[in-house]
Amino acid sequence: MSTPSHSPVAGKTFGVTVTHLTKKFGRTTVLQDINLEIAPGETFVIMGPSGSGKSVLLKHIAGLEQPTSGEVRIGSFDAADPATRSKIRLALVFQAGALFNSLSVYDNLALYLREHRLADEAGIRERVMHALTILSLEKSYKKFPSELSGGMKKRVAIARALVMEPQLFIYDEPTSELDPVMSATISEIIGTLREETAVTSIVVTHDRTLALHIADRIAFLIDGRIHAIGKPAEFTDSKDPVITNFLNPVIDLKNPRFKQLENNHE
Ligand SMILES: Nc1ncnc2c1ncn2[C@@H]1O[C@H](COP(=O)(O)OP(=O)(O)OP(=O)(O)O)[C@@H](O)[C@H]1O
Ligand SMILES: [Mg+2]
Repeated sequence: MSTPSHSPVAGKTFGVTVTHLTKKFGRTTVLQDINLEIAPGETFVIMGPSGSGKSVLLKHIAGLEQPTSGEVRIGSFDAADPATRSKIRLALVFQAGALFNSLSVYDNLALYLREHRLADEAGIRERVMHALTILSLEKSYKKFPSELSGGMKKRVAIARALVMEPQLFIYDEPTSELDPVMSATISEIIGTLREETAVTSIVVTHDRTLALHIADRIAFLIDGRIHAIGKPAEFTDSKDPVITNFLNPVIDLKNPRFKQLENNHE
């Protein structure tokens, strides 16, 4: 177990407890008896193959899915209770970005601050432009989401989350669609947030470099179950073939799978 660093504002963040969480869609079990104890201030990474249930797990933590059985708590609040969202500043950076298409980049970022009257227009401008500058987006503030690339939308979604000064950060694939330099910037941002604000961050990613750089602990999900959980070093030192193959995939062109593809192209 790792001990997350504590800063004076650590009390403003929340731990997350997942207890016997099971989720079924129809007859398909997507999550099976998940148990997790994420400490306040911890940066917790969830990895695993495509379709293993990572996004569904995050949605339960964010209160966007209801458990079939079991529960998720954010601090002492039930994540499935709609009232929880008004009690906790939760920042979500999801796979598809979810920006408001009718609003400019600037207004997408300003929206939360305006709705909650967290600053006057001058204060909002300062916070919005600061977040945009961190993500190298300061020249795009007038653009609309339809004018942005996939990677730029992702960065706007992260900037919008930063502006909220969240008490819990939830990211789903924050570096997908980004070039290596921007991916490294995202790693730095998540790392800096941990150092400076000690906000609990839960990050789903396929990005090995990101995971090993930012994680206090990593959980590895397979078929809706936790296969392994531990510190990054325990993963890099692991002898478990499932984990070593995931972290260091070997592409064997002699594999019969590829032979078949070749034949299909003839
Ligand atoms: N709303 C839904 N209704 C029915 N099945 C769903 C729903 N959402 C997800 N699933 C199923 O749950 C399983 C896990 O999906 P999930 O999106 O959590 O995968 P993931 O681990 O995030 O994969 P990826 O790495 O590709 O994003 C998949 O089999 C998916 O088809
Ligand atoms: Mg997913």
